[in-house]
Parts: sequence; structure tokens; C-alpha cells
Amino acid sequence: MNMDINQVKQAFADHFEGKCAVYASPGRINLIGEHTDYNGGFVFPGAVDCGIVAAILPNGLDKVRAYSIDMNELAEFGLNEEDAPQQGWAKYIFGVCREMAKLGVEVKGFDCAFAGDVPLGAGMSSSAALESTFAFALNELFAEGKIDKFALAKVGQMTEHHYVGVNCGIMDQFASVFGKKGNLMRLDCRSMEFEYFPFNPEGYKLLLVNSVVKHELVDSPYNKRRESCERVAKHLGVETLRDAEFEDLERVKGEISEEDYKRAKYVIGEKQRVLDVCDALIKGDYETVGQRMYQTHWGMSKDYEVSCEELDFLAELAEKCGVTGSRIMGGGFGGCTINLVKEELYDNFVATAKREFAAKYGHEPKIYDVVISDGARRLE
Ligand code: GLA
Repeated sequence: MNMDINQVKQAFADHFEGKCAVYASPGRINLIGEHTDYNGGFVFPGAVDCGIVAAILPNGLDKVRAYSIDMNELAEFGLNEEDAPQQGWAKYIFGVCREMAKLGVEVKGFDCAFAGDVPLGAGMSSSAALESTFAFALNELFAEGKIDKFALAKVGQMTEHHYVGVNCGIMDQFASVFGKKGNLMRLDCRSMEFEYFPFNPEGYKLLLVNSVVKHELVDSPYNKRRESCERVAKHLGVETLRDAEFEDLERVKGEISEEDYKRAKYVIGEKQRVLDVCDALIKGDYETVGQRMYQTHWGMSKDYEVSCEELDFLAELAEKCGVTGSRIMGGGFGGCTINLVKEELYDNFVATAKREFAAKYGHEPKIYDVVISDGARRLE
């Protein structure tokens, strides 16, 4: 974690009393496997070196007092279902408390101060970082660490479902909890089996280009994508699209909406692309990895329709610069592209992306080198 722990401890000391413990959880990248998690497919994420750091201490009361350093705002709320706070950011913490309670944990009041350095709206899961930090901390503070790591990831996911309104899959919280330095993880979201993959592609760099664009869409497009997938799966008589092949989809093409057809087509293709990338990584075949990344981008753009003009522009620009692979990362509707680039092309790509993006959209994109790091943990 790159953040200054002392700043967080100082903020805690400014607002509360006593000796706090300090916890942290990271955001994530995802090499490939987008919108596959809630379809029972594979994902290939890794934790990053930015995240949330929180200083926490039980306060012997029946309420939580939480101070967000970044928002410079204090929230106070009780621990019962009817006590939901007003502040958007505090809902995540409240949700985690409630979901832990549903697991039988006797969550009591606590004081906390926290800050984060995951860029918001970048598709790097700042919210999962927040959820995992508190799930991990409450497990230690009120459950003697008895809740297993998968259940902690689920607590974050259920917080999104029940207290935020996003019917997300498990990828982000899984990556934030299970992350391991230098390793990506291939997770089978149906069986929940996973493998660590050491990721150190010699001669290549992995970088994010953040468009700093976030298209706020009112009608919860993420949930709509999920509904499309579930409708097609139901129509095919399978549990999730994991169990569907292109032939199955073609058979029912005339019976489902064109929109649902396109959504399912993307997901079925993406399921295979993750497996292709795993094989290619084992062989050190980065050309194939890169090709699949581009295919994912255009699938997300044309069929899943979660890209946007700015991200399409960045993927095209990457291709022009000879970048091996580039695609929109995360849920979509703005945020970053993830890029696999040969070291010798890195400087030119970064300079060109900055210059040409700024010429067209009036601001430079932000560039982050990916440093694959550890998951949720206690720092002090
Ligand atoms: C968001 C969700 C994840 C996943 C991705 C898309 O990050 O939280 O569960 O569905 O979008 O891959």
C-alpha cells in the first residue's frame, strides 16, 4: 500500500481516543474475464498497490462513528437494519456491519478513520477495497477471525446487493481479499476454485490508462446486463451462461431479443478467451494474450455495449502504437483501459496517448503502472 498510514492514525487520534488497529485492502485489476463472474465463468484479477487504509477501535457503544478523511466527513449510525446512514460512503460500512451480523457475528460499536487512493470511477473497485477492509477488520475484532475468506468476500458482494443496489458478481471482493503479491488469480466463479498465477511477463509492462471519464447512467445498466444474461440462460434451460455454447445461442436466436442475443454472445466468447489467455500465459505467448484482450474490448463495445467513445479511442490508439493488448477494464461506462505493452514501446505509447487524448477530449488521461500486491490484511 502506498498510502501514508500515519496520516490515517493521526486522523483517528484527532477525532477519537485510544489505540487503534490499522487494516488495509486493495483495489484490483483484471487481465481478462469481464462480466463473466455473475455468469458462472472465469475471471483473472489481481490486487493492486492502492486501496483503503482504516484505523479502527471498538468504542463500547452501540453505534459506529466513522470519519472519512477524503470527504472530511463524520458519520454516526447504529447497527440495526433501520439505522442506515445518509452518506453514500457510510452505507458501505453499514452494509458490511449488517452482513457480518447476518453471519452471526456480534458486531459492536467502533470508531474509525479511513482514507483511500484507488482512483474513483476508474473501474478498479474502490468500493470492494472499502468493503473488504471492514469485513476483514470486523472479523478480527468481533469474531476472532472465525469467518473464512470466501465468506468475507461474500459479505462485500452482499453489501453491494443489499445496501448499494448493484447486483455485482464476486470478482472484485474476491480479488481484494485473496490478492497475492506478484500473482494474478484465475477464479472459476461457479466452483469458486482458484489458482494463483505468478505474473511477471519478461519484456512487457502492464499499465492502466484512465480516461477520467465516468458516464453516470441513471437506469442501472450493470443490473440490466445481468438481467439479459439471466433471461437467456433461463430460456436455454441452463443455470448460467457458463453452460451455454455458441450453437445453443444460435438455436434460440429468433426467440430472444436482439439485445439479449448480443449480450449472451459476448459472455460466451469471453468465457473461452479467459481459458485461451491462461494457456497462452503458460506458454509465454503474449501475442495471443494481447489479441484476446483486443477481442474483449470490441466485444464489450459492440455486443455488451458497456464501452464509450473515449475508451474505444484509447483502445484504437493502443493498437496504432503497437501495444500488444488493450481493452476496457471493469464494469464499463468509463474508467480505464488495461494495456499489455512491450517495454520498448512504453514511452511512446504513454506520450502518444496523453497527447492525442488531450487533443480530442480536452484533458490528459492518467497513467498507472500496475504493481500486483497483497490482499486484505492488518497493517498494525
Ligand atoms: C464490476 C463488478 C464485478 C464484475 C465486473 C465486470 O466490477 O463488481 O463483479 O462483474 O464489473 O467484470
